[in-house]
Amino acid sequence: MAHSRRALPLRDTPARYGRVTRLLHWTIAALILWQFLGMAIKLALGRGPVSGFFVGLHQPVGAVLFALIVLRVAWALLNRRRRPDHGAGLVGTAARLGHLALYALMLAVPSLALLRAWGSERAFQPFGVRIFAAREAPVEWAVKLADALHGELAWLLGVLILGHVVMVGVHHAMWRDGTLARMVGRAGRGRQPRSVAPPST
Ligand code: HEM
Ligand code: HEM
Repeated sequence: MAHSRRALPLRDTPARYGRVTRLLHWTIAALILWQFLGMAIKLALGRGPVSGFFVGLHQPVGAVLFALIVLRVAWALLNRRRRPDHGAGLVGTAARLGHLALYALMLAVPSLALLRAWGSERAFQPFGVRIFAAREAPVEWAVKLADALHGELAWLLGVLILGHVVMVGVHHAMWRDGTLARMVGRAGRGRQPRSVAPPST
C-alpha cells in the first residue's frame, strides 16, 4: 500500500510523532536507562572496576542528557499544537499529567546535579570540555540542595518511567489503540484510536 510507505515527517502530526521527537525520545530513554543501570550496579557491587566504569561515565553522560532534554522541551513546545491528542477523559488527563511529571523530573534531575557541579570545589569538564572552573570554596547551598534531591528525585523518575512503560504495554496489548505505533514503526502502520476508528465490516 503506497500509503504505508509514505516517509515519516520531521515534525509531529496529530496521528503520530515525527522523526525528531522519536529520535529524542528513544535516545534519551536509552541514556537514562544507562544512568540507572550504572547507579544500580554501583549500589549492588560497591566501588570496583565494573561500577567504576559506569560511575566515571555518569557525569559526562548526564551532561549530554541535560542538553538533549533542553532540546526536547523546546521541540515539544514548538510542536505542541500538532502532536497526537490524548483525549478528554480520565485516561487522557492522566496521560497528560504523567507526561508533564516526566518532563519536570527529567529536567530537574540533571539540573540539580549540574548546579552541584557548578558550586563544587572541583572543575567540571565532561569529555575534557571545561564547563565549570574549580572554586576556592564550595557554594554550600547548591551542593546541599543537590545532595538532598538529585538521587531521590532520580529514583522517583525511575518509578514514573516504570509506570509509563507499563501503561504503554496496557495500551498496546489490552486496549489495542495504536498508542505504541505513534512512537515507533513506519508511517501509516499506526491504528486509529478506537473512538475514531471506522466501523469494522
Ligand atoms: C537524567 C540524568 C541523570 C539521571 C537519571 C541520574 C541518576 C542518578 C541516580 C539514580 C543516582 C544514584 C542515587 C543513589 O545513590 O541513591 C545518581 C547519583 C549521582 N549522580 Fe546522577 N543522574 C543524572 C545526571 C547526573 C549529572 C548531569 C551529574 C553531574 C553533573 C550527576 C552526578 C551524580 C553524582 C555525583 C551522584 C552520586 C551522589 C548523589 O547521589 O547525589 N548525575 N544519579
Ligand atoms: C523502554 C522505555 C519506553 C517506552 C516503551 C516508551 C514508549 C512511549 C510511547 C509509545 C509514547 C507515545 C505515547 C502517547 O502518545 O501517548 C511515549 C511518549 C512519551 N514518553 Fe516514553 N517510552 C519509554 C521510555 C521513556 C523515558 C525513559 C522517558 C523520559 C523520562 C519517556 C517520556 C515520554 C514522554 C514525555 C512522552 C510524551 C511524548 C513526548 O513529549 O515526547 N519515555 N513513550
